[in-house]
Amino acid sequence: METTASDINSKMVVANEKMREIVRRAEIYAPYNRPVLLTGETGTGKEVLARFIHEASKRKGPLVAINVASISESLIESELFGHERGSFTGAVASKKGLLELADNGTVFFDEIAEMTLPFQAKLLRVVDGNGSYRFRRVGGTSEIVSDFRIICASNRPLEDLISEGKFLKDLFYRMQVFRLHLPPLRERQEDIVALTRHYLEKICAEFGKKPLQISLDVWAGLISRPWAGNIRELMTVIARAVALCREDVSELKPEHFDLDTMADEKPGPKEKTGLPELERLLALRGISPASNAGISDKKSQQGKTIEQIRAQKEAFIAALEKNNWNITKTAEALGIACSTLRKDIKTLKIVSPKGCWKRGRPKKSSVSPST
Ligand SMILES: Nc1ncnc2c1ncn2[C@@H]1O[C@H](COP(=O)(O)OP(=O)(O)OP(=O)(O)O)[C@@H](O)[C@H]1O
Ligand SMILES: [Mg+2]
Repeated sequence: METTASDINSKMVVANEKMREIVRRAEIYAPYNRPVLLTGETGTGKEVLARFIHEASKRKGPLVAINVASISESLIESELFGHERGSFTGAVASKKGLLELADNGTVFFDEIAEMTLPFQAKLLRVVDGNGSYRFRRVGGTSEIVSDFRIICASNRPLEDLISEGKFLKDLFYRMQVFRLHLPPLRERQEDIVALTRHYLEKICAEFGKKPLQISLDVWAGLISRPWAGNIRELMTVIARAVALCREDVSELKPEHFDLDTMADEKPGPKEKTGLPELERLLALRGISPASNAGISDKKSQQGKTIEQIRAQKEAFIAALEKNNWNITKTAEALGIACSTLRKDIKTLKIVSPKGCWKRGRPKKSSVSPST
């Protein structure tokens, strides 16, 4: 069946006019084989839109999603380009790379802001064309030709990284022939309503509960919340509320939501320090000590005690330990982007016992004495 903007609601929930325009644009760009750059905060729907573009492009091959942050530096080349048997220790058989597997399809590079400069340089050599890309497998002699469409996503402004010398300008210009920015959920009130209804119905069915209504004061809370984690966060909040709701209840009320963590969630100027934001994240994920959650007085949010900061840090360490210090898994469990988690780790000066985040699976945590 053809995928058009008119039946978009069957795949994506889009009620906000700005978002509808973005989807219409995506549909216009879809058939033209040029790279697309999708930007927007974490959880705004970049991957969902990438999949929509792929489907609407009518490309027969697969969509191969590559989370840049999750591939270790040493494996990049063989993962992307493949390798021939015996090309390095452990290469017992030849293997196709992700770029070769994506022939006639789409390659989705997620979190490209996390790409290291050597990774960027390797990619730049390949993408210097339009659709039909040439490369060799590691240890291979013959050239492989693969025809794929590139879609990239980033939740960090790449322009900033370019000026800091962390992202190659050449690569940036090649990747953003078409560019679409997804607004944060707090600027899409119609979507908050539509997505809440959509996921409420879905989650009620999944949890075996009868359909639930939402009280007015809950709607007011949902609409005015800043939704730092955007749609992913909305889904978590709804799932928690549905789970907390007793069988005889037909309407969700504030007590079903952790509204003490929602009370002060009004959009406002960004805090100077990363800690209030971090605390809110922790509270929303249910791993906060919650000692300060729900305090609507901003002054008291800022005046944190060492104990509170330490508690936040320990909550993060607990999440990391639970996920074997694997950043990707921990970020997934917390419902935040890897890049956000890395920033939080840096802010809180959390050190992995082995000093290695990507591959290490340490046994013990350590808390830096600096807090
Ligand atoms: N328009 C939409 N309709 C319904 N669900 C959506 C929509 N957009 C996003 N979602 C859901 O919200 C969640 C987050 O979406 P997605 O993974 O596409 O976000 P993202 O921008 O790629 O986030 P990140 O930057 O953290 O990778 C997913 O579970 C997705 O299914
Ligand atoms: Mg994504």
